Amino acid sequence: MLVSAKEMLNKAKAGHYAVGQFNINNLEWAKAILLTAEEMKSPVILGVSEGAGKYMCGYKTIVGMVKGMIEGLGITVPVAIHLDHGSYEGAYKCIEAGFSSVMFDGSHYPIEENIAKTKELVAVCNEKGLSIEAEVGSIGGEEDGVIGGGEVASPDECKMIADLGVTMLAAGIGNIHGKYPANWTGLNFEVLAKISEKVGDMPLVLHGGTGIPEDMIKKAISLGVSKINVNTECQLSFAAATRKYIEAGKDLEGKGFDPRKLLAPGVEAIKATVREKIELFGSAGKA
Ligand code: 13P
Repeated sequence: MLVSAKEMLNKAKAGHYAVGQFNINNLEWAKAILLTAEEMKSPVILGVSEGAGKYMCGYKTIVGMVKGMIEGLGITVPVAIHLDHGSYEGAYKCIEAGFSSVMFDGSHYPIEENIAKTKELVAVCNEKGLSIEAEVGSIGGEEDGVIGGGEVASPDECKMIADLGVTMLAAGIGNIHGKYPANWTGLNFEVLAKISEKVGDMPLVLHGGTGIPEDMIKKAISLGVSKINVNTECQLSFAAATRKYIEAGKDLEGKGFDPRKLLAPGVEAIKATVREKIELFGSAGKA
């Protein structure tokens, strides 16, 4: 069922668990994530970065593919297709293409401009029944060419953006996209607690889910995080399983070169990662 992320995230916030956003790159990714969410009876958000959107031949291709899969695979759990770190123009393109959710990342603009653009997009999304995520305080690291300095968000600015009526809010709290460096000091729970207090019922989003230790994930959820984004970890699992298959020479045995065989271990590895995260986030059985 293709839905906006609003209801699933409000339920998650009230029920003290988080829904996973797993980014997709191609058919195998989308299929692995949808099948795992269905198997675990969990709501799920498919994240699409602008780079991944281009790679998959545009947003309309993605909407068509995901809608087709929901029908073809008999997916009954709530599924949202969500633009990840969207630009202002990208958000409009996804709204038009039939996404059910968008993120407008205005964190690199001065706060006044972030507010003005977010406000405009909130009105459009409300009218069309889409959920919308906004961001305050950039997320560190690099994702698909989008580089963030890893600021810690100001709780007052979070309150200003939350008051615009966004569905969910991403706030930088020392989180980073990709692998965490050895000298990473961890999530800033003090700031997260302050943001939570200011924004009340608004579901908070934790980006950079790859490599955050389990105890920190659980603590973040207890402090109001209701959506956790995971991208790199599925890529690493897929690559490791594919490497193992090739290094074992399996592509050279019989029809092992058939892409449906060659990519199968990678797909199973993505499923295992998604399963593990859904368990950890507590969204299993919540569909
Ligand atoms: P990771 O790649 O670190 O898991 O981050 C994903 C993310 O935050 C997508 O927006």
